[in-house]
Amino acid sequence: MSTNVRGRNFLKLLDYSPKEIRYFLDLSKNFKNMKKNGVLHPYLSGKNIVLLFEKTSTRTRCAFEVAGRDLGMGVTYLEPGSSQMGKKESIADTAKVLGRMFDGIEYRGFNQKIVEELAANSGVPVWNGLTDEFHPTQMLADLLTIEENFGTLKGVHFTFMGDARNNVGNSLMVACAKMGLNFTACSPKELFPKKELVDSCRQIAAESGSTITLTENVEEGTKNADVIYTDIWVSMGEPDDVWESRIKLLKPYQVNAQLMKNASERSIFMHCLPSFHDKNTQIGADIAKKFGLPEMEVTDEVFTSKRSVVFDEAENRLHTIKSVLYATLC
Ligand code: CP
Ligand code: NVA
Repeated sequence: MSTNVRGRNFLKLLDYSPKEIRYFLDLSKNFKNMKKNGVLHPYLSGKNIVLLFEKTSTRTRCAFEVAGRDLGMGVTYLEPGSSQMGKKESIADTAKVLGRMFDGIEYRGFNQKIVEELAANSGVPVWNGLTDEFHPTQMLADLLTIEENFGTLKGVHFTFMGDARNNVGNSLMVACAKMGLNFTACSPKELFPKKELVDSCRQIAAESGSTITLTENVEEGTKNADVIYTDIWVSMGEPDDVWESRIKLLKPYQVNAQLMKNASERSIFMHCLPSFHDKNTQIGADIAKKFGLPEMEVTDEVFTSKRSVVFDEAENRLHTIKSVLYATLC
């Protein structure tokens, strides 16, 4: 039977089967080819989408905007604090209004419950552009990038270093379990993903023939890994005063040249971005001054090395988000 996800929400990867995820990835490759070859593809002209952001963004916002326009759609961006939602209008009422005007709604913000409430009330597809719990569109770009590098997903050894219970860590564990990559979270115990999610992912992994490992041991966790992935140590929405304790916890998990040597010979370095790999950001400079740490989750040496595929990964946000928009709205 052919795969059809028309009219569906895209709230978390747990809601999608491996076959449906494969469909998004294959569609992304087609859109990437068309874009590279200058083949126009305004297949959704006449439709309109809205991008509702309660947190800041570069990649996700731009990918949704450009993907929407390439598909021929009208795109409205509502920046953080600029709509009535929350302060003067409930989430449910906002969803009902937006659903009367737009063909689909992207939401980036806080609790996963918010994006679910938008989906329950809008009557049109809702796409999760990052919540505190999950970042599913990032996952499609990450899977596509891994497949482009290794020609396959199944059996790839994937290690996530750092805050493994953040939105990206959670989502990567789900993505790997679904698509048959062996997932390792390498982080202090305090930052392991929640047991309930780990248990669900272990069940999914058993079906796809892969494994889920949690370890505090850096040498063990990175040994022969094909992908070393990290994310910032303090996520959007967390208070500034967690920096000190987080740095203490995660400093031993910094991705550096020595750690990469322990990984497989063919290993690549990945990061969803933005990244604190030098002092060229406000926060990077502040942390360097306060804690004497000039690089955080990854050293500049690794970030700028040949193994780093972070900008291919960022580009793939466009092609994969386009596949989600097309498949759910066509
Ligand atoms: N990776 C990612 O979601 O980046 P932005 O925060 O810039 O959207
Ligand atoms: N964990 C990060 C991901 C950014 C794309 C955050 O939520 O800030």
